[in-house]
Amino acid sequence: METKAQSSVAAYQVSIAEEDGIDSELDAALRALLCRCFPEWSSVFQECRTWHSTPPIFTLVASEHGQIIGHVAVVVRTITTTWNFRYNVASIQGVCVSPENRRSGLATEMMLTALNEIKRRGFLFAILFCKEHLVSFYTDKGWKLADDSVVMRNKDDLPISMRSNCPMYYELGDVPFPEGPLDVHSPSWE
Ligand SMILES: CC(C)(COP(=O)(O)OP(=O)(O)OC[C@H]1O[C@@H](n2cnc3c(N)ncnc32)[C@H](O)[C@@H]1OP(=O)(O)O)[C@@H](O)C(=O)NCCC(=O)NCCS
Repeated sequence: METKAQSSVAAYQVSIAEEDGIDSELDAALRALLCRCFPEWSSVFQECRTWHSTPPIFTLVASEHGQIIGHVAVVVRTITTTWNFRYNVASIQGVCVSPENRRSGLATEMMLTALNEIKRRGFLFAILFCKEHLVSFYTDKGWKLADDSVVMRNKDDLPISMRSNCPMYYELGDVPFPEGPLDVHSPSWE
């Protein structure tokens, strides 16, 4: 695994992995963690680490004593506003920590590391979709809940029904997140 940055808190390590630095063994370990943490989506994660097979631009991998205990993937999406402005945004997916390692600050550290890297790569905004009970987990870290509707589309340009339906955004600089309904398109939309 190619490591571009590394930090350590407690006994675990958090690394930034480029996609071409993730070999099949690490891929399998990350998918196993995703299946444990998101059993309702295990059919997706048995096949691939991200939704719609969109390759991550980077992945945060947390490990402890050689075991994979945390994961965050970052993919690029294009969003369009009412006025047809388009932005490439960093979309965060698969935030998870193994059950026995929770409540020790690992997800908080991974989110901070992810946002620093996203900012370093020049993005103005990050987005994610979460379940309602986790909204405060993200707002505590500076994320905001989108007031307006957010629509995602499949490859046939039809709206996708989203089960994790709290859309959140993070402003990485001084530019405010666009107001009004947002279209986040299909992942491969260009
Ligand atoms: C959500 C998750 C990633 C949090 O990981 P974690 O490493 O335990 O989080 P942290 O230790 O950094 O938590 C920091 C704070 O966030 C809040 N928090 C953490 N998990 C929470 C949860 N499940 N519900 C509500 N608040 C939570 C708490 O305030 C916590 O502080 P505290 O431990 O002092 O009370 C982890 O519970 C997980 O993997 N869950 C299953 C997968 C999932 O739902 N992922 C989110 C997808 S959007």
